[in-house]
Amino acid sequence: MAPPADPRRGARADRRLVPRQPLVVGAVEERRLVKVLVTGAGGQVGRELVTAFDGHDVVAADRAALDVSDRDQVLGAITSLAPDLVINAAAWTAVDACESDPDRAYRDNALAVRYVADACRRVGAHLTHISTDYVFSGDQDAPYTEWDPTGPRSVYGRSKLAGEVEAGPDALVVRTAWVCGEHGPNMVKTILRLAAEHDTLRFVDDQRGHPTFADDLAEMIRRLAVERRTGITHVTNQGAVSWFELAQEVMRAAGQDPDRVQPISTAEMPRPAPRPANSVLDNAVLRLEGIELLDDFRVPLARLVARLT
Ligand SMILES: NC(=O)c1ccc[n+]([C@@H]2O[C@H](COP(=O)([O-])OP(=O)(O)OC[C@H]3O[C@@H](n4cnc5c(N)ncnc54)[C@H](OP(=O)(O)O)[C@@H]3O)[C@@H](O)[C@H]2O)c1
Repeated sequence: MAPPADPRRGARADRRLVPRQPLVVGAVEERRLVKVLVTGAGGQVGRELVTAFDGHDVVAADRAALDVSDRDQVLGAITSLAPDLVINAAAWTAVDACESDPDRAYRDNALAVRYVADACRRVGAHLTHISTDYVFSGDQDAPYTEWDPTGPRSVYGRSKLAGEVEAGPDALVVRTAWVCGEHGPNMVKTILRLAAEHDTLRFVDDQRGHPTFADDLAEMIRRLAVERRTGITHVTNQGAVSWFELAQEVMRAAGQDPDRVQPISTAEMPRPAPRPANSVLDNAVLRLEGIELLDDFRVPLARLVARLT
């Protein structure tokens, strides 16, 4: 199988690395050129990851270039590229649609991770896999640490939890939540669109989370991946809010009246897939390791709103 098309290889793509060099972590490791494969590179996070690895030898594979649910494609691409790092940003993220097609959810979000992890082991590549707050039930009163028991309530959440297991003990599993960014549909864009179309906006006030911006997330993933860290790690921007409060913050950032947003309950807006009421991820691993946490979400929010308006 040919390696995936490579539309965005870095300028130094001709430089080769010897895989499995002795490991040097931290700042020294950051300076070493790594060959990195980003899967799901056409998605919201994938596109920011490709930018975050600028200066490294990055291969951006969107779904057309590499379907991670195709075992032959995955093994062929990864063994022929022999990257140092693989960042799996591919997933079926249509949370409600997953409820009516669990086979597709498990194929893209769980079985595909088995293939990627297997291929990584064969070439000694480090795997970073991205997961979600939906692995939790949302019933807990406090923020969720990496060691709290999981209990997904939706097909999407169950398939993503299975993906964490498939990634294996040598992988870094980055759980994140409420991702917004410049590329692809997300809540910030939805709020701005609704504000342009309606006088009053209604958002639920009984689901809380840490809004997380794809560019900040990608920068932290690059840092952790280059250091070949392992284990589950929560990475979100800081500042817990409800969707109602986020909508008010978006209005403020856009110079509009936040009182145009009204709070409603989840029960008033039934969806096929249940959402966790508490999606707040304590970035406990980063905190305990003394790694500076990502900014309060209002900082990247202001940046994004300025770009979008
Ligand atoms: N967005 C959030 O709020 C959020 C929250 C927590 C965690 N996450 C996690 O973050 C990661 C990135 O999500 P995102 O927000 O960037 O979602 P996204 O914009 O939907 O990106 C996912 C990408 O994966 C691709 N894809 C789907 N199935 C594939 C397959 N079989 N092979 C190759 N590519 C495939 C999709 O391509 P198509 O568009 O062509 O299907 C899409 O480009 C995912 O693991 C997700 O579970 C996201």
